[in-house]
Amino acid sequence: MLRVGFIGAGGNAEGHMRRVKEIEDVEIAAICDVVLERAQAMARAVGGVAYDDYREMLDKEALDAIYISIPPFAHGEVDVLAAQKKAALFIEKPVALDMETGLRIWEAVQQAGIITCVGYQTRYLDAAQRGREFLADKTIGMVVCNRWGGIAGGAEHWWRVMEKSGGQLVEQTTHQVDLMRFLVGEIVEVTARYALRVCADLENFTIPDAQVLTLQFLSGAIGTLTTSCMMTRGGGKSSLDILLRDLRLEWTRDGWKTYPEQVPELAAPPQPRPSIDEVFIHAVRTGDASLIQSDYADALRTLDVTLAANESARTGQPVRTYFAR
Ligand SMILES: NC(=O)c1ccc[n+]([C@@H]2O[C@H](COP(=O)([O-])OP(=O)(O)OC[C@H]3O[C@@H](n4cnc5c(N)ncnc54)[C@H](O)[C@@H]3O)[C@@H](O)[C@H]2O)c1
Repeated sequence: MLRVGFIGAGGNAEGHMRRVKEIEDVEIAAICDVVLERAQAMARAVGGVAYDDYREMLDKEALDAIYISIPPFAHGEVDVLAAQKKAALFIEKPVALDMETGLRIWEAVQQAGIITCVGYQTRYLDAAQRGREFLADKTIGMVVCNRWGGIAGGAEHWWRVMEKSGGQLVEQTTHQVDLMRFLVGEIVEVTARYALRVCADLENFTIPDAQVLTLQFLSGAIGTLTTSCMMTRGGGKSSLDILLRDLRLEWTRDGWKTYPEQVPELAAPPQPRPSIDEVFIHAVRTGDASLIQSDYADALRTLDVTLAANESARTGQPVRTYFAR
């Protein structure tokens, strides 16, 4: 029986707990949240001992795997101590809010020699896998990506505070950046402009509500990404188009649309694939991490791109990513 612990028992962790609980021979042994009632409520629902201090939980419980699903600003010591326990770690994106913290955690992960998996679950979709395979030997010219949605949480939520979430790009649109990296390759330079206009009057709201990026990929391809949280009542849009010579690929979660004609490799209906939780637990059980699509080191590169954008918006200059310097 695998013993799994959770640090953070908010909305996202609840989904993982319910999926993990469905997997055979896995026990949710411990749940920690700084708000003890949250840990207790989840422990009643899925099992495990409730804690309000992760140090105490890490000291008392022998765990094979730990999910860390806490707000972005809370990463740091918790991830390092969990790694030192030599449990496999599932860490939610974004993995930190600055490269220094991310690199410190990565060092602890390397020293411990543990399996890691970061919550970029889009990579596990059949469309993402198939797209990556198709694009591997193609010359990509241009990538155009947009994510226009609403504001997460209410007036007290950490999401709308720049120092706590890093802004929508770092916190949410990190999924689109990660998908572009997965499909098109590494991003080496970013130029960004941000604005806070239509949401400026909202209480406790310090993140930009409009973010526009120009991307330089290592391959030579170029791209744009725009993201906005102005559309709280619906009507938003999420899109990704990849342009090759005489071919446009349009991403949908259920498969690719291609123009001007169908591409047989991309047109077939999507095949069901194991979820990110099933893949992670399989890796913990067998020691074989080959099906994990995004480990800590890889996720750090996605964070790197989004932080480079924040720096570019601040300085008005193009910024090389940390890993491309
Ligand atoms: N992969 C995805 O698609 C996806 C979806 C939603 C959220 N997330 C990520 O999951 C993380 C959590 O998001 P959420 O929506 O569940 O937030 P949330 O605010 O609902 O939950 C976070 C929980 O962590 C607790 N917490 C904070 N610091 C802690 C600490 N040091 N020790 C123990 N508990 C602590 C809080 O009390 C809270 O209950 C975020 O990084 C978010 O980006 C990922």
